[in-house]
Amino acid sequence: VADALMTLRPFLLLVFVALVFWLAARVLRQSLLGRLGQLGKLLVFVGLVGIYVLTLVFTAMGAAPPWAPFMMVLMGSPLTIIVVVVSVVLFWLVLRELPFPTPHWAGFLLEGPWRGLLMPADAVFNRMALGPGMRVVELGCGTGHLSVGAARRIEPGGILFCVDIQPEMVKKTMARIEKQGLGNTQGHVASAGRLPFDIYDIDLVFVVHVLGEIPDRLAALREAFRVLRPGGVLSISETLIDPHYRFRNDVVKTARQAGFETVSVDGSLFNYTATFRRPAAKGPLEYVPRFAA
Ligand SMILES: C[S@@+](CC[C@H](N)C(=O)[O-])C[C@H]1O[C@@H](n2cnc3c(N)ncnc32)[C@H](O)[C@@H]1O
Repeated sequence: VADALMTLRPFLLLVFVALVFWLAARVLRQSLLGRLGQLGKLLVFVGLVGIYVLTLVFTAMGAAPPWAPFMMVLMGSPLTIIVVVVSVVLFWLVLRELPFPTPHWAGFLLEGPWRGLLMPADAVFNRMALGPGMRVVELGCGTGHLSVGAARRIEPGGILFCVDIQPEMVKKTMARIEKQGLGNTQGHVASAGRLPFDIYDIDLVFVVHVLGEIPDRLAALREAFRVLRPGGVLSISETLIDPHYRFRNDVVKTARQAGFETVSVDGSLFNYTATFRRPAAKGPLEYVPRFAA
């Protein structure tokens, strides 16, 4: 096996370097997206090609490029590379099949620069078209990373209901909201399978990095359907790095099963937002409107 690995070494290194470059390109492109647009993509492309060409030049001159030690660490031995890659993939695959809420004590994982890099909050908000006066449910609010921004965007007149199954998470979100002096947000401890709303007049339910943590996803989406007004929007965002990531085909299939119409899927495999709409009612609505006499 060791001999075979050594023979395959150049090929494995090539694949590995290609993967690292591909990932770096995607991350950089996402982070620049919306700020530098096409220019950003061009800069990333020129930068990566530049590094590659400089590496070739240094090698041709018989010298090591300044980033060689970093490359050595990255490359290691083929066996190390295989063990690391296989472990990461296995961890990811296993967690995908084990839905459980991100523990509240691990809430720090939901913060930090990686968020801005992999899925900037503004990009998510723009994809869900939040606007003043909307009645919005944030399902699985976590530490409230997106709640403050969402609450601001629906001012004036809007109301945000932050729902999470863990009381500690709701507490963290509400502390954040209060710190910003926002008075248009309510926190609710509840499960996605039974939302605490009996009046069906929600304009938007948004779900970011949550769906894969819910054991019965179909029931959760049916519940979102129930609380949305006809024409109301369900927005689901996922990032590949999340071990509970759900593929877009799976998400679209479940949402359609729950009764939604697909509006759009924006983004890429790496990070995307799927938007659905509750169709207009075919018959009389079976609920009493909020302001009925
Ligand atoms: C990965 S965090 C994402 C938090 C937030 N949406 C964000 O993007 O920062 C997932 C959150 O969903 C919550 N959650 C998981 N399963 C849930 C369920 N069945 N009902 C309600 N909330 C749930 C977890 O408690 C956790 O706070």
